[in-house]
Amino acid sequence: MARWHLLPLLILAFLSLASAQNLTAKLDYGTFKGSYSSTYNISYWRKIPFAAPPVGENRFRGPQPPSPITNGTYDSSQTFDMCPQRTVNGSEDCLYLGLYSRPWTASQPLRPVVVVYFGGGFIEGGGSFSIPPSGYPVLNVSTTNDFIFVYPNYRVNAFGLLPGAEIAASSTSDLNPGLLDQQAALQWTNKYIEAFGGDPKNVSIWGQSAGGGSVVAQVIANGGKTNPPLFSKALASSPYWPKTYQYNAPEAQNIYDTFANLSGCAGPDSLKCLKAADVQTLRTVSLAMSASHTYNTSSYTWSPVIDGVFLTQPLSQATIKGEVNIEYGFGMYNTHEGENFIPPGLANAQNSGSPPFNSSTASFNAWLRGFLPSFSDRNIEQLEALYPATGASEGIASYNTTYTRAGLIYRDVTLACPAYWLARAAHKKSYVGEYMISPAKHASDTEWWNQVNAIQKSQPYIYEGYTGAFASFFQTGDPNAHRLTNATVPENWRTGEEFVIEADGFGTADVGQFLDKRCGFWRQVAGDVPV
Ligand SMILES: *[C@@H]1O[C@H](CO)[C@@H](O)[C@H](O)[C@H]1NC(C)=O
Ligand SMILES: *[C@@H]1O[C@H](CO)[C@@H](O)[C@H](O)[C@H]1NC(C)=O
Ligand SMILES: *[C@@H]1O[C@H](CO)[C@@H](O)[C@H](O)[C@H]1NC(C)=O
Ligand SMILES: *[C@@H]1O[C@H](CO)[C@@H](O)[C@H](O)[C@H]1NC(C)=O
Ligand SMILES: *[C@@H]1O[C@H](CO)[C@@H](O)[C@H](O)[C@H]1NC(C)=O
Ligand SMILES: *[C@@H]1O[C@H](CO)[C@@H](O)[C@H](O)[C@H]1NC(C)=O
Ligand SMILES: *[C@@H]1O[C@H](CO)[C@@H](O)[C@H](O)[C@H]1NC(C)=O
Ligand SMILES: *[C@@H]1O[C@H](CO)[C@@H](O)[C@H](O)[C@H]1NC(C)=O
Ligand SMILES: *[C@@H]1O[C@H](CO)[C@@H](O)[C@H](O)[C@H]1NC(C)=O
Ligand SMILES: *[C@@H]1O[C@H](CO)[C@@H](O)[C@H](O)[C@H]1NC(C)=O
Ligand SMILES: *[C@@H]1O[C@H](CO)[C@@H](O)[C@H](O)[C@H]1NC(C)=O
Repeated sequence: MARWHLLPLLILAFLSLASAQNLTAKLDYGTFKGSYSSTYNISYWRKIPFAAPPVGENRFRGPQPPSPITNGTYDSSQTFDMCPQRTVNGSEDCLYLGLYSRPWTASQPLRPVVVVYFGGGFIEGGGSFSIPPSGYPVLNVSTTNDFIFVYPNYRVNAFGLLPGAEIAASSTSDLNPGLLDQQAALQWTNKYIEAFGGDPKNVSIWGQSAGGGSVVAQVIANGGKTNPPLFSKALASSPYWPKTYQYNAPEAQNIYDTFANLSGCAGPDSLKCLKAADVQTLRTVSLAMSASHTYNTSSYTWSPVIDGVFLTQPLSQATIKGEVNIEYGFGMYNTHEGENFIPPGLANAQNSGSPPFNSSTASFNAWLRGFLPSFSDRNIEQLEALYPATGASEGIASYNTTYTRAGLIYRDVTLACPAYWLARAAHKKSYVGEYMISPAKHASDTEWWNQVNAIQKSQPYIYEGYTGAFASFFQTGDPNAHRLTNATVPENWRTGEEFVIEADGFGTADVGQFLDKRCGFWRQVAGDVPV
C-alpha cells in the first residue's frame, strides 16, 4: 500500500527530468525531435541530415546543402545507414550526423563541442551510434567536463576518395568528397549547434585511425587558413595518414583508370558511366581494389589526394610551415601499432601469406622495396641506419626481429609521425602521448574510451588519467587543467616530451633519441614517399 503514495512523486520526478530539455530543435531547414536516456543521462539526436543525398549527379561530388524538410517533425531518434562499404551494402543516402550531451536548457551556458570522425581505413565504418553511444566514457569520466559529441558520416572508398584528372575536369564532381563531407559536418556544427546547447566558438575535432587521418586532413585543409575557423583544438588518436599523391600522379590516375575499367566504364565517357552505374557494382569494385595493394605500396588503396584546393600540400610540409587550422594539438600513437599493417608472415621463420613473407632479412627487404617503391639506395641506407636490424625506440628497450623493425618503420611514416607533426604544429599548445600498455597494437587504446567497458571500473587509475586527459583537453585545450589523478601522476603533457601510458601508470619519455630523428628523416624524404 505505502508504495502507492510514492507514485505521484515518481511521476513528478520523471516529468521534471523529461522537461529538463526541449528535445524538439527547430532549425531553418527542418524540425528535429530527439530523445532522452535516463540510464545514461543524455539527450540525443541520432539522425539529422547535414547534406543532400549524394546520389545521381551528386555521386563523387562534394556535399550539397540539405533539402528543407516540410512534411512535419523529423524523427531524430532513429539510426542511419553506413555509406556503401565492405561489411554492409550500406546506402548512398548516408550524409547524416548524430549528437548527444547531458541535458541542456536555454538558461544554461553553451558547452564545448567535439566532432568525432569514425575510423576504418577510409574504406569502411560509420558515424551512427547505439546507446550508450561511442565516446560516452569520455563524457562520463568526470562531472567537471560537459561537452557535446557530434558523430557525422562521411563517404569512404571510391564513393568518397576517387582520384583522377576526369574528376578534376568535371563541374559536378570533386576530389576528396569524403573529406568535404567531414568539413560540411563542421560547417553544420558552426551554424546549428547553439540550438543544442553547443558553443560554435569552442569546437574540437577527434578521431582514431582513419578518423585520426580525417582530423589530419581537416587540420591542414585550405592551406591551414580555413576562414572563418571551424575548430581550434584537435586530437588525433593513431592517425592513419597514408601517402598522399597529387590527384593526377600516375599512382592516383591508375586508381581511377582501374576503377573505371573494372566497373565496365572504360572509355571517353567513363565518369558519366560511373555516375550512372549500379551502386553494388561500384561497391564490389571498390572492395576488390582496396585489397589489391595490401602489404605493398599502400594498405587499402583509397586515400586522400592533394587536390590543389582542399588539400594543397602534404602533411609534412604543412606542419613544418605551421599552416594548420589549430591552436591546440594533441597526437597519440601506440607502440606496436605498425605491426597491424605489415605482412604477418614477417613474424615466422616459414613462408606464409600471399604473396609469401618470412622473418628473413631478404623477406624484410622485399617488403621494404614494395612499400617504398621510389626510394633510392641512398634513402634505404639512411633508413637502415635509423632503424637498424637490432635497435630500440621509446617503449621498446630492444628489438632484434624484422617484424618489430618493419612495424616501427610503417608505424612512424603512417601513424606516429603524423600524430607528432600535427601536435607540434599547433599555434598555441602541443601535446604528444604514446600508449604502451601491452600489446599496444592498433586500437588497443580504444577500450579506455570508445565504448563502456569493465576495464574503466576495474582500473580507474588509468581510466581517469588517460581518458580524463582527453576530456580535459576537449573542455579546456589542456589535458592537465582538469586532471583527475592525484599528484602521483606527473603533470607532463609538455612540448619536447611525450607522456606515456604504461600498465603500472604514467610517465614521460624523451623523444629526442628516436622519434624526433626518425620523423625528421621521413620529412626530409617526403619527395619520395609523399606524406
Ligand atoms: C520546444 O521547441 C520547439 C521549437 O522551437 C517549440 O515549437 C516548442 O513549443 C518548444 N516546446 C516547449 C515545451 O517549450
Ligand atoms: C544529468 O546531468 C546533469 C548535467 O550534468 C546533472 O545536473 C543532473 O544531475 C544529471 N541527472 C542525473 C539523473 O544524473
Ligand atoms: C516525410 O517524408 C519522408 C519521405 O517520404 C518520410 O520518410 C517521413 O516519414 C515523412 N515524415 C513525416 C513526419 O510524415
Ligand atoms: C546487398 O546487395 C546485393 C546485390 O544487390 C543483394 O543481393 C543483397 O541482398 C544486399 N544485401 C542486403 C543485406 O541488403
Ligand atoms: C558514469 O559515471 C558514474 C559516476 O562516476 C558512474 O557511477 C557510472 O557507473 C558511470 N556509467 C558508466 C556506464 O560507466
Ligand atoms: C583501362 O582500359 C583501357 C582500355 O581498355 C586500357 O587501355 C588501359 O590500359 C586500362 N587501364 C588500366 C589501369 O587498367
Ligand atoms: C624466406 O623468404 C626469402 C625471400 O623471399 C626466401 O628466399 C626464402 O626461401 C624464404 N625462407 C623460407 C624458409 O621459406
Ligand atoms: C608491389 O607493387 C609494385 C608496384 O605497384 C609491383 O611492381 C610489385 O609487383 C608489387 N609487389 C608485390 C609483392 O605484390
Ligand atoms: C633477440 O632478443 C630476444 C629477447 O629480447 C633474445 O632472447 C634473443 O636471444 C635475441 N636473439 C638474438 C639473435 O640476438
Ligand atoms: C571552451 O569552453 C571552456 C569551458 O567553458 C573554457 O574553459 C575554454 O576556455 C573555452 N575555450 C575556448 C577556446 O573558447
Ligand atoms: C594517488 O592515486 C593512487 C592510485 O589511485 C593511489 O594508489 C595513491 O594512494 C594516491 N595517493 C594519494 C596521496 O592520494
